[in-house]
Parts: sequence; C-alpha cells; structure tokens
Amino acid sequence: MTTNAQQFQTLQALSTAAAELFCRVAQQSLKEHAHFTVALSGGSTPRLLYEYLCQEPYLSRIPWSKTHIFWGDERYVPSDHPDSNFAMASQALIQHVPLPVEHIHRIPTELASPEQTAEVYETTLRKCLSVFDHRSQQNNLPVFDLILLGMGPDGHTASLFPESPVLEEHTRWVAATPVPNLNPPVRRITLTYPVLNAGKTVLFLVSGKQKQAIVQQILNHSQEARQQYPAARINPSGNLLWMLV
Ligand code: 6PG
Repeated sequence: MTTNAQQFQTLQALSTAAAELFCRVAQQSLKEHAHFTVALSGGSTPRLLYEYLCQEPYLSRIPWSKTHIFWGDERYVPSDHPDSNFAMASQALIQHVPLPVEHIHRIPTELASPEQTAEVYETTLRKCLSVFDHRSQQNNLPVFDLILLGMGPDGHTASLFPESPVLEEHTRWVAATPVPNLNPPVRRITLTYPVLNAGKTVLFLVSGKQKQAIVQQILNHSQEARQQYPAARINPSGNLLWMLV
C-alpha cells in the first residue's frame, strides 16, 4: 500500500485535484479491463467534485459508457430524501452525465428494512462481479477501481462508526448499522472493511479543521488512532490517498 496526503487551501482546489485523479483512474482502469467501477461517498465534501465531473475538462475524459457507479454507504431514507447520498449524487452528477441507467447501482433503501437492503445490495455486488477486476481472489471480493470516502469528526468513514458492531464484520460485504449518534440519526447501510480494503485506489476527501488532528494521528499510524477511529483501519492493498482542506 502506498499512502499519499495532500493539503489544500480551498475546497475548489481539493475538488479540482480529486477530479483530475478521478479521470486518471478511470482511464487507467479502461487500459486494464473493460469497465471503471467507482464507489461514491456521501456527506457534503464530495458534492463540488461531483459537480466538476459534469463539466469540461473532466466530462469528456471519463468513459461514462464503461463506468459503473456504486455507493460506499447510504442512509436508510427514500432515494429522493434530502439526507440521501444517492439524491445528492443524482442532483450533482448523475442527472448530468451520459451514464447508462443500468450502470447506476443504487442502494435500495425502499426495501422493508436496512437488513434486507444490505442483503440485496450484497447480491447486487456479487451479480456485478463480472464488471469488477477482482484480481485478489480472497473470498472473491469485488475490487473497486476507485473508492471515495469521507471522514466524520469522530473518525468514522462510510457508515463505520466508532464502537459499532459492524466494525467487526469481516465476512459480509454489506451491513446495516444501528442508529449512529451523529446526524442524521437514521440507520445506515455500509460496505464493510473487507470490501473497502480491497479497493485498488481509495481516496479520502476530508474537510474541516476540526478533523485535522485525527487525520494526522491516522497518517502517523498511531495505535490509539487505529483503536479509536474507524477511518484508521482503512488500509487497502493498493493506493491510499488523502486530500484535506
Ligand atoms: C455519509 C458519509 C460519511 C461522510 C462523513 C463526512 O453518509 O454521511 O458516507 O461517511 O463521508 O460523515 O461527511 P462530510 O464530508 O459532510 O464532512
């Protein structure tokens, strides 16, 4: 694993660098195999990146017809709810790019329970294995070309929250979480560590000065950070990149 961290002065500069990386990874993926698979993150930080990807010079550099979009996590709310990660990505990105509708792999939060949603999404990942380049044959894991992650002020990432039972999930690929003690107070569905750590390139986009001390502890590989902050346990076999503002 190679780790790289970059500090930016503005969200615009961070989002430009992230858009450049997104294009590079997309193009490199098409050289290696037939598709580009990406898991989007939610929250607020990635929104400007998504808006940039709909514009030149990025729009025409991404092979949208060969791109498959997934989510790293989702809130258990309707897909048109203001708290939905899908709704945010749909408004900022998906509605504005020529992505085949069958390449949009939304986490189906209209199902009866978060548990059922997690089971169905895991089935979706297993069905889509043909579009993944799962070079690491460990448990036939889906290997995303790119995974976008954020980090909360408590060191959570995706919907892996401190002290959550989901942190100890090493078999299932997708899990339903309890209600976190962070807003929005709704249950979540999240990819688990095995899938997140199988990613070929994992990019953290982190905004907020109050998070910098946690990020520094993580980058220093402190044992305490590893025990306290779920984001510290993201150690992909490929590239781990941090973009901070
Ligand atoms: C979510 C995200 C979550 C987010 C962090 C950071 O569903 O909210 O997946 O992990 O990335 O909470 O959010 P901000 O980028 O808004 O600070």
